[in-house]
Amino acid sequence: MAPSNIVPRKPMTTMTEIDALLTENRKFPPPDEFRRNAHVKDTSLYKAAEENSEAFWESQANELEWFEKWKTVCEWNPPHVKWFTGGKINVSVNCVDRHVKTARRNKAALIWEGEPGDRRTLTYWDLYVEVQKCANMLKKLGVKRGDRVAIYMPLIPEVAIAMLACTRIGAAHSVVFGGFSPESLRDRINDAECRVLITADGGYRRGGVIPLKRNADRAIESCPTIEHVVVVQRRPGAFGDEAFASMTEGRDHWWHRLMQDASPVCQPEQMDAEDVLYILYTSGTTGKPKGIVHTTGGYLVGVTTTTKFVFDLKDDDVFWCTADVGWVTGHSYLVYGPLANGATCVMYEGAPDWPEKDRFWQICERHGVTILYTAPTAIRAFMKWGDQWPAKHDLSRLRLLGSVGEPINPEAWMWYQEKIGGNRCPIVDTWWQTETGAIVISPLPGVTETKPGSATTPLPGFSAALIDASGKEIKVGGGLLALTKPWPSMLRTIWGDDQRYVDTYFTKWEGRPDLYFPGDGAKRDDDGYYWILGRVDDVLNVAGHRIGTMEVESALVEHPAVAEAAVVGRTHELKGQALAAFVTVREGFEPSDDLGQELREFVAEKIGAIAKPDDVMFAADLPKTRSGKIMRRLLRDIAEGRALGDTTTLADPNVVAALKDQLVHKVFTFTSMFEAREE
Ligand code: WT7
Repeated sequence: MAPSNIVPRKPMTTMTEIDALLTENRKFPPPDEFRRNAHVKDTSLYKAAEENSEAFWESQANELEWFEKWKTVCEWNPPHVKWFTGGKINVSVNCVDRHVKTARRNKAALIWEGEPGDRRTLTYWDLYVEVQKCANMLKKLGVKRGDRVAIYMPLIPEVAIAMLACTRIGAAHSVVFGGFSPESLRDRINDAECRVLITADGGYRRGGVIPLKRNADRAIESCPTIEHVVVVQRRPGAFGDEAFASMTEGRDHWWHRLMQDASPVCQPEQMDAEDVLYILYTSGTTGKPKGIVHTTGGYLVGVTTTTKFVFDLKDDDVFWCTADVGWVTGHSYLVYGPLANGATCVMYEGAPDWPEKDRFWQICERHGVTILYTAPTAIRAFMKWGDQWPAKHDLSRLRLLGSVGEPINPEAWMWYQEKIGGNRCPIVDTWWQTETGAIVISPLPGVTETKPGSATTPLPGFSAALIDASGKEIKVGGGLLALTKPWPSMLRTIWGDDQRYVDTYFTKWEGRPDLYFPGDGAKRDDDGYYWILGRVDDVLNVAGHRIGTMEVESALVEHPAVAEAAVVGRTHELKGQALAAFVTVREGFEPSDDLGQELREFVAEKIGAIAKPDDVMFAADLPKTRSGKIMRRLLRDIAEGRALGDTTTLADPNVVAALKDQLVHKVFTFTSMFEAREE
C-alpha cells in the first residue's frame, strides 16, 4: 500500500483533525525544574544508545539481579531473536526480594482501592510473604516450571500476587481480562492448555457485581486441561458464600484457605532469560486471538528501563497506571515495571465515574499521586463531564502525566495539560503494543520538547522508520511504521503458531525479515517526530483496546438469524472508534429493533461487552467487488455518514444504492456511550 493510500481509521479522527495534526505547531519544552531533577537531562543517552544499542541494553540489564550473567546480549536471526542468552534470572526476586533487602522493606508497594471504597496497602515485605505463600500454594496444586496458569480476576492485589507467584516458580501466566465472556476465557485457556485457573467470586464495576466465578464455571465445562480452580473471596460476606460461587469438591479451592496453610518461604526458580514469562492474547486480523509470548530476561529489562526513564520514576513517587491488568499496560506498567523499580503503585478496581465523576481525582488527592498514566478515551470522557470534577480536588502533587492506547487528539492533550496537570506537568504520549512489551516511541520528560498529538521519537535503544509499500524509507511524510532493530522486550512468537508470528509481523517488506511491522500508519515531520495515525489493517481500536473485526463478524454469523456480517469502525467522540455492524438476515427472519438489540447482546455474550457493536444496520445485501470481497471502505463511508467514494469496482452497484436508501430511512442505530469502558 502506498503511503498516500493509508486510511487513518483511528482516533478522534475526522480527516480534518488528521490534517490539523500536520499543522499543529505548538511546542512544549520540559519545565526547567523538571529537567534539572530528571533521570535523563540531555540527549547523551540517545547518542550512546544509537552508537551501540546492545551496549545500552546490556548496561540496563546490569541494573537487575541475575543468578548468572548472560553469555550473549543479542542473537538476531531475523525474524527470531534471543536476548541475554545464558543468563539466569527470576522476575519475582527483582520485583520483590531485591527491595526487601533495602530501606524499601516497609515501603508501600501497592495502595489499593476497591470500587465500593474498601482499601488496602501492601508493603514490599507484605508482597514478599504473600508471593511466596501463593507460589507454594500453586506448587501444592501441582503447578510446575513450564506450566501455564490462567488468571481471570478483578483488579485486586491478589492479581499481582498471583502473577508474581507464577514467575517465582517458573510457570507462565495467561491473564484474561475480567470483562471477557466465558467463551473467550475458554478459548484462551484451551489454547495455552492451562492447568490451574485463579479467579474470584466476583468483582465490582459501576456498582454492579461481575460474576467471575460463575463465568469461569461456564468456561471450564469445556476446558479439559484445568485441574484446579482457586477462588479469591473478593469481599468476605458481601456476596454470600453461595451467591456467585458454588464450589466443586476437589477441583475448586478458596484462596484464603489454601494461603492460610502455605509456607511463606519459597525458593525462586532460576529461569533462563529466554524462558516464557507470560502469554497475553490480543486481537489480530484473522482467526482466533493471538497468544503473544513474552520471555523473562529481555522483557524485564525492557519494562524496568522504560518505566524508569519515561516516567522519571523516583523513590518518593506515587505512580498510578489506571489500566486493568487484563491488558499489556497493566502487565508492564502496573505490575512489572514499577515493582522492579521499587515504586509505590496505586491500583483501583472500578469505574472512573463511580460513585461520582470525580473518583479519579479523589484517588489522586487522597494518595498523593505524582504520576498518572491513563488513556485518551478516559481523558475525552473527563473533558465531557466538565472541569468542575477535577477542580474539586487538590491535584498539586501531580508532576507527570502519561497517555497510552490510541492517538491523543491535540484538544484532549491540551485539556489534560491544563486541567489535570495545572500547566506544570510534562505529558508523555507513549506508543507501543502488546507485542512490543514496553514503550517504544515516547518523549523523555526531562529532555524532549513535546508537541500535542505526537508520540515524538523512539526511546534510546529502539529504532523506527517510516517505509512505503515498495520498501522505500520516508523521511518526511506518511508511511507504514516499522521497527528496524530488535529490542529486548519484543514478543518472541505466537503461542503454538510460529508461522503466524512470521507472517503477521515480518513479511510486509519482501526480503526484509528484519523489519517488524506493527500494523500502524504514521507521519513524520521535519523534526523527525512521529504522529501515529492508527491501524492500517482490519483491527479497530475501541477505547484503547484492540478488536479484530473478523472476531466480531464470526460471532455475529453464529446467530441463527444472521446470513452475513461485516463490521467496520466509525469515529466515536469518546472511544476513538466504535463498531458498526452491517448484517444481512437469513430467510425467515425480519430485521427489527429487537433483533438488533439481540445481536448486540449476542456479541457481548460471545466475546465480551467491549466488542458489542454500537450500530447494527440491516442490509438486503453487502457491497462486494467482482471477486467477492466485501468493500469495507464503502461501509466505512456509510457508517461515518460520508459521501461515498469510488464504486466502479462493485459487482452490483445497486447494492450500495439500496444501502444508502436504508440509511436515509435510518434502519436503526444504537449509540451507547460508555459500553466499551463498562466491560
Ligand atoms: C495499538 C496497540 C500499548 C498498550 C495499550 C494498547 C495503538 C497504542 C498509542 C499511542 C497512538 C497508540 C496503536 C497500536 N496505540 N498507543 N500513544 N498513540 N496509537 O495495546 O492492544 O496491543 O494495541 O494501540 O494502534 O498498534 P494493544
